[in-house]
Amino acid sequence: MNYDIAEIKYKLKKYGQEHLLNFYDTLDENKKEELLKQINEINFELINSLYSKTKESTKNENVQIEPMSFIDKSKLNDKYKFYEDIGKKAIKEGKLAVVTMAGGQGTRLGHNGPKGTFDIGLDSHKSLFELLCDYIKEESRKYDVQIPWFIMTSNENNADTIEFFKKNKYFGYEKNIYFFIQGELPMVDTEGKILIGEDGLIKEAADGHGGVYESLIKSGMIQKMKERGVEWVFIGGVDNCLVKMVDPILMGIAIDEKVTAAGKSVVKANPYEKVGAFCKKNGRPSVVEYSEITEDMAKATDENGNLLYGESHILCNLFNIVAIERMGNTPLPYHIAFKKATYIDKDGNKIVPDSPNAYKFEAFLFDAFGEVDNMVILRVKREDEFAPVKNATGVDSPETARKLYNDFYKLS
Ligand code: UD1
Repeated sequence: MNYDIAEIKYKLKKYGQEHLLNFYDTLDENKKEELLKQINEINFELINSLYSKTKESTKNENVQIEPMSFIDKSKLNDKYKFYEDIGKKAIKEGKLAVVTMAGGQGTRLGHNGPKGTFDIGLDSHKSLFELLCDYIKEESRKYDVQIPWFIMTSNENNADTIEFFKKNKYFGYEKNIYFFIQGELPMVDTEGKILIGEDGLIKEAADGHGGVYESLIKSGMIQKMKERGVEWVFIGGVDNCLVKMVDPILMGIAIDEKVTAAGKSVVKANPYEKVGAFCKKNGRPSVVEYSEITEDMAKATDENGNLLYGESHILCNLFNIVAIERMGNTPLPYHIAFKKATYIDKDGNKIVPDSPNAYKFEAFLFDAFGEVDNMVILRVKREDEFAPVKNATGVDSPETARKLYNDFYKLS
């Protein structure tokens, strides 16, 4: 594409980002083109407003937060079979698709590569991707249907992820696997200047999994789902090796209750567990994230001593396609993270910071929950469905996940 350099310079000047072309002349033709494309695609108004937000207090006094009611899967009694029959029928009819958000790297685990390629150390040495694929294949066999699997990658790990699947012959499930890439936003420094990375291009970072709905639409995946007759989409993370993506009870309840969204929760282990908690914000379904919950809220209990905000969000949510289309067309708020980012300064020096120096903007998928008319929460058993792999050692580590996995499948 031919870009109008004069126009681009004018735009950069207007937003105080002229430095982005400082090293333009030193780049090869491909990179020049790539840089202009990046600049052309940046929404500078958005970046400016996000940067202004870094200077504001994040407290939002106007939001009224209340606990959210839930249904306990273990107490459904005779309703269990009723919901199960409804859900099983829909799954058999091919109405379910699964999305795995796998845009993250395994950095926190000390793993150099996409998080989904991480081996948690089971005797089989299967990667997280393979464990998830085994599960989907088994459920497909059970319901005599081919459940399509949509995998969200990021620019950072897309090529490596696809290469990994190729190398492993798509675990024998190739015809049903689709990849799509999540969105990105530039990182800015403490002065609001967009950073230039070591490659001379704009330093961008994944814009959080809140972009999953929009990416599903823009990448044409929703269209593919419709072509396959899909009506319901389970969206989960890649880092829970016990994630139960095909759940007839969850589907049966959603269908019977005529809601367009349903999420699974487990009881929060303690007030400080690093999980979000389901809640209502201004009367609409939402999640209060562990990094944003106040101490008082985290510790608040009801008359029986149970945590008021004790239904952990385990990134296991089911949506009707109608809800995804609505959420994907609604702008979400961005959360701000202050991170370490290597960059090239205005004199061309590579700067490797030893403390955070740049803002990263991320949307969270649960900020869109308020767009759905109603949402059912199903409390499930932690030991059946939640074995997160987040840290190299200690809590939520390969060791704890391995034990939960082996116990569930009675492998040891
Ligand atoms: C997340 C949830 C938290 C929940 C917990 C359960 C958020 C913001 N919070 O916390 O409410 O209780 O999981 O384990 O998600 N991902 C992408 N692209 C991104 C960012 C993340 O695909 O841009 C994927 C990751 O690969 C991973 C999942 O989303 O599969 C979770 O991301 P992570 O950032 O690790 O979230 P947590 O802080 O663990």
